[in-house]
Amino acid sequence: MPELSYIDVYYSIHGFQEEDLRGKTAVVIDVLRASSSIVTALSRGAKRIIPVADMEEAVKIASPMDSRDYLLCGEKDGNKIEGYHLGNSPLEYVPDVIGNKTLIFNTTNGTKAIRKASLANQVYVGAFLNQQSILNAINEHDDEVVLICSGWRGRLSLEDALFAGSLVHHLSNGVMSDQLKDSAKIAFGLFERFGQDLEKTIGESDHAKRLAKLVPEGDIPFCCKVDEFDTLPAMKDGILTDING
Ligand code: MLT
Repeated sequence: MPELSYIDVYYSIHGFQEEDLRGKTAVVIDVLRASSSIVTALSRGAKRIIPVADMEEAVKIASPMDSRDYLLCGEKDGNKIEGYHLGNSPLEYVPDVIGNKTLIFNTTNGTKAIRKASLANQVYVGAFLNQQSILNAINEHDDEVVLICSGWRGRLSLEDALFAGSLVHHLSNGVMSDQLKDSAKIAFGLFERFGQDLEKTIGESDHAKRLAKLVPEGDIPFCCKVDEFDTLPAMKDGILTDING
């Protein structure tokens, strides 16, 4: 288990440089919706997920592959990308569609944050859906842990900060320790204030409002479920797989 003073929280992808993560464990968070969709997809049978930073990269990775083996997945500004097989609703990721496939995943903030974290010793992808798996994984490390909130276009997102807060709260056994860094104390306090009713709080967040007219109604309640899966997406050589699977 890491010392409490070793836990840091970055509230947007502009809050760190790639080099800052060397030697550390990173947990990338995009509750609405990329990390929730990635956790769901790996839980429901996707073979592996390749997060990409943009459309050009997605095409480059897909072009030598057999078209039966992969799906292009993701969104731009919440909307499914034209020509892609799937968007970014976790509800789309069902076994019949994604079973044994490679998913090339391209989203506005989440997959960019995962890519930017690639110099970390270990990169995990976390959401409320796999909270306990993330806590177990963090507890196995004694190096520094950075919780990376993907946010929205460089700005803080409440739902990501709230999940970071939930992790800090659990790791501190619900006690605000003076050992915690400022960034972790803020996340802890946010969770204490708003953690009791995730669906209401997250449903009233900026990003939920942004998505309201664009996505299935069930997306937000689904992303607020806690410990729905015991999946642990971990990255090796730029590829995410479920290392609990
Ligand atoms: C992102 O990566 O910015 C999000 O997952 C956007 C979304 O909700 O689709």
